[in-house]
Amino acid sequence: EKDGYPSFMEKEIHEQPRAVADTLLGRNDSHGKLTLDELRIDESILRSVDKIIVIACGTSAYVGQVAKYAIEHWCRIPTEVELSHEFRYRDPIVNEKTLVVAISQSGETMDTLMAVRHAREQGAKVLAICNTNGSTIPRESDAVLYTHAGPEIAVASTKAFLAQITASYLLGLYLAQLRGNKFQDEIKTILTDLAAMPEKIQAVLDHEQQIKDLAVSMKDVNSVLFLGRHVGFPVAMEGALKLKELAYIHAEGFAAGELKHGPIALIEEGQPVFVVVPSPNGRDSLHAKVVSNIQEVRARGAKTIVIAEAGDEAVRQYAEHVFYVPATSTLLAPLLTTVPLQIFACALASEKGYDVDQPRNLAKSVTVE
Ligand code: F6R
Repeated sequence: EKDGYPSFMEKEIHEQPRAVADTLLGRNDSHGKLTLDELRIDESILRSVDKIIVIACGTSAYVGQVAKYAIEHWCRIPTEVELSHEFRYRDPIVNEKTLVVAISQSGETMDTLMAVRHAREQGAKVLAICNTNGSTIPRESDAVLYTHAGPEIAVASTKAFLAQITASYLLGLYLAQLRGNKFQDEIKTILTDLAAMPEKIQAVLDHEQQIKDLAVSMKDVNSVLFLGRHVGFPVAMEGALKLKELAYIHAEGFAAGELKHGPIALIEEGQPVFVVVPSPNGRDSLHAKVVSNIQEVRARGAKTIVIAEAGDEAVRQYAEHVFYVPATSTLLAPLLTTVPLQIFACALASEKGYDVDQPRNLAKSVTVE
């Protein structure tokens, strides 16, 4: 049932082009218009939403952070992201005009379920993004947008993460369309870019050997840092989480801009630092800022491993290793830049002889608070 792969995790990493394609399937007509009929929340309610709060835990909460960047940009609706267990116990400001988006692969995470109940008691509408048909969280929500990643067996989430990100883009684009804002042309472009994603993810997988070799060569490191900006920030945190969970190595993800406010003190000779670099063709000076962050850590002895867009030659001179991913729009990049980090963690843990499907101390669904 592992289809010849050594672990479910490797199998699931390789199922990601399909997970994203299946999550997009049937939700976009040929005229670039989205249809999310299954949502079942009245359009007039969705038009009047004045705040979105995404609640989730762990990897699913990183999806929320990506969703925040996308939804705020496309829809201009203030969007917060909060860990379910923090949301629930801090008297959050929620009312009938709040749309709460609960993201959960399993649909059974107790912390998220309690947060869903709390939000509904305050009058908010709750939309679940979930991978498990008929599970508790979608049953207790007002609406559900299912991800179609298929069952995820490995404890650490991979294909569900990419499918959840895809679903949150769909939600953001749908709300933007519904509210008829000025981004309609950009929305069409993004939908075209999304449709090309499964192929591009496959292209990243086709080059996995490069990252596996790197992982083998790094099997004895005892700390790895990950840096990113904008949507690269949650990707960095996801890369760090995967490495902690699977390889039991100390790892941390930082917003690259935060470096000089503290974390740069950690950098010493030989410290491995992954840097998720945004497209050089993206907005503002995001790319230049990240390149200068690479230079800052390199100057202090870091061993830099860079995930960059194909054709980005500027990063080469500052990087020990460069791993290129295909070009796409800035907001969609997490669907590509996360993949080498998953492969890295999985390969390094396997090299150490650990069971990547069943990491110690972890359970697939956390049904206790
Ligand atoms: C990490 C991981 C966990 C889950 C978290 C939430 O690889 O799998 O951090 O993302 O426990 O689980 P769900 O999405 O089922 O609510």
